[in-house]
Amino acid sequence: MTVRIVPSILSADFAHLADDIARVEAGGADWVHVDVMDGRFVPNITYGTKVIETMRSITELPLDVHCMIVEPERHLETFAKAGASVLTIHAEAAPHLHRQIQYIKELGCAAGVALNPATPLEAVREVITDLDLLLIMSVDPGYGGQTFIPNSLAKLRRARLMLNEVGSQAALEVDGGINGETIHKVWRAGADTFVAGNAIFTAADPCTEIAALRARCREVV
Ligand code: DX5
Ligand code: ZN
Repeated sequence: MTVRIVPSILSADFAHLADDIARVEAGGADWVHVDVMDGRFVPNITYGTKVIETMRSITELPLDVHCMIVEPERHLETFAKAGASVLTIHAEAAPHLHRQIQYIKELGCAAGVALNPATPLEAVREVITDLDLLLIMSVDPGYGGQTFIPNSLAKLRRARLMLNEVGSQAALEVDGGINGETIHKVWRAGADTFVAGNAIFTAADPCTEIAALRARCREVV
């Protein structure tokens, strides 16, 4: 079964970004997660095109770009050209979700849709077969280092059923508060793609932490 461990650079040391990325790449990270925040969809402001370009130049790993921005359609082409591999937009920020998913695919990227903790799964039901990735937020987006919201487990189980019902091969990603304890629960709930910022970048050894997180994605006997 697929397990993708995806470090979020939100918790990396930006004075030594290349070193941090080299470290997680050597540690077996599957993708790298780039959190773009605009200070409008979420309270925080982070980074955009320039950092995506920089990331593209320092790693071969797929770049998983999480767009926490209003009117994402204004920036998708720029992010794709900068080197994004997956472009994930929020259902809450994209009323014409079907159009934006097709647009992301036309740009040559995998298309993801994210749901905030308060947004029901129904928001993606009519486009479920179009998705390459479904992201269930397990914290309210905006900051790293927040506590996992327990209700996310039931939502992930329902999301897994919804994807299986239509035979979807989409990744089921979870983002927020993922650590050695929560990852086992979300894996059991059906997630296969695990974003972790704080857990990986504040660990004494990010390589060991990636391996430890991956090891938790199996049945304990
Ligand atoms: C939160 C971001 C996350 C964040 C996760 O809004 O979308 O990707 O980096 O950080 P941790 O793993 O520290 O909760
Ligand atoms: Zn994220």
